[in-house]
Amino acid sequence: MDNLKIPRHVAVIMDGNGRWAKSKGLPRKMGHVQGGKNVEDMLYVCDDLGIKYFTVYAFSTENWKRSEDEVAALMTLLRSYLSSGFKKAAKNNVRIRIIGDRTRLAPDIQKLIEDLEEDSKNNTGLQFQIAINYGSRDEIVRMMKRTAEDIKSGNINPEDINEDYISNNLDTKDIPDPDLLIRTSGEQRISNFLLWQIAYSEFYFADCHWPDFNKDELIKAIEEYNKRDRRFGDAK
Ligand code: IPE
Ligand code: IPE
Ligand code: MG
Repeated sequence: MDNLKIPRHVAVIMDGNGRWAKSKGLPRKMGHVQGGKNVEDMLYVCDDLGIKYFTVYAFSTENWKRSEDEVAALMTLLRSYLSSGFKKAAKNNVRIRIIGDRTRLAPDIQKLIEDLEEDSKNNTGLQFQIAINYGSRDEIVRMMKRTAEDIKSGNINPEDINEDYISNNLDTKDIPDPDLLIRTSGEQRISNFLLWQIAYSEFYFADCHWPDFNKDELIKAIEEYNKRDRRFGDAK
């Protein structure tokens, strides 16, 4: 593990909480409880390894389609992490930002998010992004609507729109694109996560379920990343 090149930004599609629970004869909800704990542990692992940006997909715009029970359980867990575990991280120099459309979340969750972002905004340690009610297509639709309004009101001209403009108007503004994208649980799809931002990310698919993804698994992913010959369309 010495001399490993550490990716600056690691993004994770945390999949498999339900299957993890099922494999243990537990209700799906318990998988989410365990998955939530793991996010907190992995925050400190990332920090220790020298990863600067860590982004996790916690709840997608499509996840509202799950049963009322499961959505409620996920929201309850989120509330508890935003008001305890992540708050603790914010006190440990972690900067927390939420990406996604927060307007559809309960007002008390929106308030927790605002406070957490405000309280941690000057933290210089790990930069931690949580995607909640996030969908890449939805992010692009929201960006397009704001842009159309700005053009209509004369604030910007169509000539001002370029790749930088788009990057700077997505929820991930000021956050560099992921170097390494990990999905757990064996599934090999993107499920509407960071479509614009992963244009040149390296992908890694882990077989284990998210609650079992730990430091050793992350190191395996980074070792694999180290074997990749990163290219950006150039000839080397
Ligand atoms: C990921 O685990 C967590 C969320 C999507 C909220 P899943 O709940 O998708 O677990 P599986 O994929 O059904 O096993
Ligand atoms: C993606 O996982 C979303 C999150 C991890 C939050 P899903 O389990 O919802 O995705 P699909 O349905 O397998 O594509
Ligand atoms: Mg899943």
